[in-house]
Amino acid sequence: MWTYYFLLSLCIITQVQSKQIDLSYRGLKKEDFFARLQSTINIREVTDLNLKGNRFDNFIDCSTHLDHMKTLDLAENHLGQFLFLCNDGYALESLNVSHNFLEYIDDSSLNNKVSKLKILDLSFNKLSTINETMLQHMKILEFLSVASNPIVNLHENAFKNQKSMIHLDLTNVSQVFFPSTLFKAMTNLSYLNISHNKIEILPYLPLSLEELDISSTNILYVDNLIFPRMMKFYMNHMPNITEVVLNDFENLTMLEILSMENNPILSEFRVWPPNSRILPRLQHLSVRGCALETLTDDLRPIMQRVSIVDLQNNPWHCDCRMQWVNRLNLSNELSREIKCKTPDQHTKKILAEIPNHELVCVEISTIGYTAILVSTTIILLVILVGGFWIFWKGPLRQWSLPKRGTETVSYKNVVESSNDLISHLIVADDHNDE
Ligand SMILES: *[C@@H]1O[C@H](CO)[C@@H](O)[C@H](O)[C@H]1NC(C)=O
Ligand SMILES: *[C@@H]1O[C@H](CO)[C@@H](O)[C@H](O)[C@H]1NC(C)=O
Ligand SMILES: *[C@@H]1O[C@H](CO)[C@@H](O)[C@H](O)[C@H]1NC(C)=O
Ligand SMILES: *[C@@H]1O[C@H](CO)[C@@H](O)[C@H](O)[C@H]1NC(C)=O
Ligand SMILES: *[C@@H]1O[C@H](CO)[C@@H](O)[C@H](O)[C@H]1NC(C)=O
Ligand SMILES: *[C@@H]1O[C@H](CO)[C@@H](O)[C@H](O)[C@H]1NC(C)=O
Ligand SMILES: *[C@@H]1O[C@H](CO)[C@@H](O)[C@H](O)[C@H]1NC(C)=O
Ligand SMILES: *[C@@H]1O[C@H](CO)[C@@H](O)[C@H](O)[C@H]1NC(C)=O
Repeated sequence: MWTYYFLLSLCIITQVQSKQIDLSYRGLKKEDFFARLQSTINIREVTDLNLKGNRFDNFIDCSTHLDHMKTLDLAENHLGQFLFLCNDGYALESLNVSHNFLEYIDDSSLNNKVSKLKILDLSFNKLSTINETMLQHMKILEFLSVASNPIVNLHENAFKNQKSMIHLDLTNVSQVFFPSTLFKAMTNLSYLNISHNKIEILPYLPLSLEELDISSTNILYVDNLIFPRMMKFYMNHMPNITEVVLNDFENLTMLEILSMENNPILSEFRVWPPNSRILPRLQHLSVRGCALETLTDDLRPIMQRVSIVDLQNNPWHCDCRMQWVNRLNLSNELSREIKCKTPDQHTKKILAEIPNHELVCVEISTIGYTAILVSTTIILLVILVGGFWIFWKGPLRQWSLPKRGTETVSYKNVVESSNDLISHLIVADDHNDE
């Protein structure tokens, strides 16, 4: 045991010059560190302390001196608590307490002693509440992750002081709705991840966003997107999206990456009305793993322009409507990736390997067949009804035909006034000549 600490101390001494101490994954308990190891380091000078992957069950600053500490990594421990009580103020800029057992944030955890924090990682804990005072002292915070916490109460003013926030991760925080005031203060927010939440509508979001991930949410429609700086937009694994019309993204003029992968019922994908100038900077478009059967011609301009288009794993129906894709002869191997599912004669074939004359639409003959069937049925019905009528009304001679001059045009009328009819026709011809 003592040789272990001796070696560890040696290792620490060699690290001390750089003022960065790495004690990660050494099975240390807080007693090991505070009572023994600490005395071998000039802890006051340390700027960067990595205690990741140890067995601390809490961390209280009173038995240590973190005067110059800028980065403290306590991730992957057993923390139920971390407190800053015993010093007036710290220089701490980055704190990682992710993957611990925190159930709540004590009033002495994120207080005004650590108000210089810029980076705070609280992800993968057991936090159930983010109330309006929990982050009130974190006024210059730029990076925050509370991902994968079972949050029940997320106060609408929880982030009201986070005006400097740039990167916010709210992945998997058990929310069904994000209040519209939540992001209001963050006018510099650039990255937002709200994936893995069962929300159904897109919340109000800051205009400054450059990267947005709404994957694995139950959002039904994405429209009214006005983000003039947005460069990356991810909407993968969305169970309720049936249709994407790229015109809804017309105001994302800086967009470079658009990912719509593995959306199981996404079957409509269009640019409508046609617009060849949509998404002028797009470089990467992916709709792989969706339910698309065909591509319409209005996608041609965008397909030709975008350098990476991923269309794999869709149930493509290779008929005449797909001829244009073949004719494009794209260099980006777009059509190489289209593997047909239907019709039967093309199953599992690559679209590019099917000559265009074999891409036929059988719909027309189906329509013809249906038409014949329908008209035969109608004729049969007419004969049947007619037969019934005759049977019920008795023989033909009893029919009383309307008299001349009435408005109803009957067979008898037409015969009797055939001369009138001819003169009408002549008049009509005269009109046509004019
Ligand atoms: C915090 O630690 C976790 C677990 O080791 C790591 O995945 C995460 O990237 C760290 N966060 C930051 C901001 O470095
Ligand atoms: C916020 O929660 C903390 C505990 O996590 C509590 O001490 C504090 O009083 C709460 N603030 C409000 C305004 O309820
Ligand atoms: C979501 O968070 C829970 C804990 O709250 C965790 O067990 C689960 O693995 C997380 N899921 C994802 C997709 O990160
Ligand atoms: C927003 O970003 C700009 C440019 O990086 C910076 O000058 C400004 O101070 C930031 N605003 C806030 C509230 O942090
Ligand atoms: C958002 O978070 C999920 C889960 O951690 C991750 O898989 C995904 O890559 C993140 N999105 C972006 C754009 O970073
Ligand atoms: C794009 O912005 C213009 C001007 O602000 C607006 O009229 C139009 O409705 C927006 N388009 C979409 C799809 O939101
Ligand atoms: C969205 O899809 C999920 C999973 O298929 C389903 O449970 C939910 O009811 C759907 N929501 C709406 C509004 O259709
Ligand atoms: C398609 O492009 C290749 C080279 O990129 C060329 O060799 C081939 O002749 C073209 N086919 C047609 C039908 O234009």
